[in-house]
Amino acid sequence: MAKEAPSEGFRVVVVGSANVDLEVGVPHWPDPGESVIAVASERFPGGKGANQAVAAAKAGGVSTALVSAWGADADGALLQEFLLSAGVDTRAVRTVDCPTGLAIVMVDPEGANVVTVVKGANDRVELGEPGCQLVSGARVVLANLEIPVATVARAAQAAREARAVFVLNAAPTTDLPRELLDNVDVLIVSEHGARELAKQHFGMYPSDDGPLLSALRRLVPSVVMTRGGEGVLVASADQEIELVRALPVEPVDHTGAGDTFNGVLAARLAEGAALGEATRAATAAASISLSRAGAGPSIPDAREVARALATGRVPQLD
Ligand code: RIB
Repeated sequence: MAKEAPSEGFRVVVVGSANVDLEVGVPHWPDPGESVIAVASERFPGGKGANQAVAAAKAGGVSTALVSAWGADADGALLQEFLLSAGVDTRAVRTVDCPTGLAIVMVDPEGANVVTVVKGANDRVELGEPGCQLVSGARVVLANLEIPVATVARAAQAAREARAVFVLNAAPTTDLPRELLDNVDVLIVSEHGARELAKQHFGMYPSDDGPLLSALRRLVPSVVMTRGGEGVLVASADQEIELVRALPVEPVDHTGAGDTFNGVLAARLAEGAALGEATRAATAAASISLSRAGAGPSIPDAREVARALATGRVPQLD
């Protein structure tokens, strides 16, 4: 049975995709026209929106809801179970008459991945009345770009009207209209995405990180730029650019690490943390995710993140 919505509203509302990931381990990247034999294959719950919502919910004490869509199929049922068991409210997830999103994820022996997404139901994600209601009671709204940009823009507008903090994870990289960016409070973007965005809005991009971040801060108040093993740069009003280092880790699988970062960052902001502090927790959580296989199953809980922050190490699974 569905739980009651908290009377004060959900603190974090994620607007984004839900996929089942067909993950295959490959011995090496195939060249065009080459076939390789997979060394392993498994189906995992995933999708940027679902992963981010689970990461926020598992960060501890932060009520979380997801606005998304899936099909009336076994993959939709798998995702619903995954989300509910992590404590994510799914009442604003629409069941639509097309298949649940599917991601085909190839992972090499170093844990690097190549992902192809078949959007399916994700193309039908709408904010709608239930989504608007959720956003109007939220402290933080987090969105990603595997769904229609128009839906993300509506969520950003609704968040602005509700005075919620709007966090945009600009992934996958796509052109973003100025009207959407005007309602973004925190932009989380990869180095590649940052350059593309600067190119789109200014016709060029600075090659150094500092000027690149300054350029993006002409578009949005705060920028969090993720740089893989090089750590994360945080640029906010009146603050020096802060470097947050990743924890040392032997990556098993990169899938879902970025989403873990985004979800934990949103949860910490919803608890009142400053952006730098939220980024430190998010970075530790992402490092843990890197040490585990799959997207959904790799997301750590609050206890594991606390241990990683205290010791500076990725905890082993109990
Ligand atoms: O960010 C990782 C996610 O991207 C995977 O779970 C896959 O579904 C794709 O959406």
